[in-house]
Amino acid sequence: MKIFIDSATVSEIKKADSYGILDGVTTNPSLIKRAVDSLKKAGKNIDMQRYIEDILKTAKGTPVSLEVIGADADTIIAEGKALFRRFNSIANNVVIKVPVNPAFKADDTTHFDGIKAIKALSAQGIPINCTLIFTPEQAILAAKAGAMYVSPFAGRVDDDLRKISGIEFDKADYYPSEGMVRGESIISDNGVVSGIDLVSQIAHIFAAYDIKTEILAASLRNPRQVREAAFAGADIATLPLSVIETLLHHHKTFEGMKSFTDDIVPAYSGMLKELR
Ligand code: E4P
Repeated sequence: MKIFIDSATVSEIKKADSYGILDGVTTNPSLIKRAVDSLKKAGKNIDMQRYIEDILKTAKGTPVSLEVIGADADTIIAEGKALFRRFNSIANNVVIKVPVNPAFKADDTTHFDGIKAIKALSAQGIPINCTLIFTPEQAILAAKAGAMYVSPFAGRVDDDLRKISGIEFDKADYYPSEGMVRGESIISDNGVVSGIDLVSQIAHIFAAYDIKTEILAASLRNPRQVREAAFAGADIATLPLSVIETLLHHHKTFEGMKSFTDDIVPAYSGMLKELR
């Protein structure tokens, strides 16, 4: 499974890259806001075009998702083309992030505008990451329209399930992939029992129909969710730096390091010194 960093902060992307395990970057308007706010706080002015160039160069040729902000097909297509035209020559790694359904409410008539835009942009060879996926059927339509990646928001599914059932939670809390039972029945959003279940249902469907669109498990907030996304068949996990940095933690690894270090005999450390 590939690991992307979910961040628009250059220093975080640099740090994740220095670990040698980074396969790509995802951004969204909220992550850009966070980066801009912290630069402002540090008294720095931001030139957004230079800043995006910096992100693209820091990602060293690995894919970087840049999100459109339009909410109708024509605007999304125009923004997608403009972003790709302006920035792809920098490091040949721009992916355009398009919401699966840009409508704000059920009586809005723009439901299919994301899908139409994905179809038009993909047909021109522009790689698309279809975002805000909360159902397998949204993923099917995004793949059908030509998306290179679909992004199921696993953590936000778990937030929603906990919220509708009145469970108190912290953003990073683990939610069981098999779901939770309340009263007689399992808590579900129309048959999706957890964020990881959503990833798994999409993976099953894509495998059954040999769909090549990659599953980019998003909104993952803890290491166990990352493991379960891999087990469910996600091609990619996009993670905040804080989650990447907990992936190697285990108390027995720390304990083993301490006992091995305590047991080093001078003959062995001396030999290593000589060899270096
Ligand atoms: C994915 O591309 C999104 O940027 C992201 O994973 C959302 O995560 P959040 O739900 O923790 O904000």
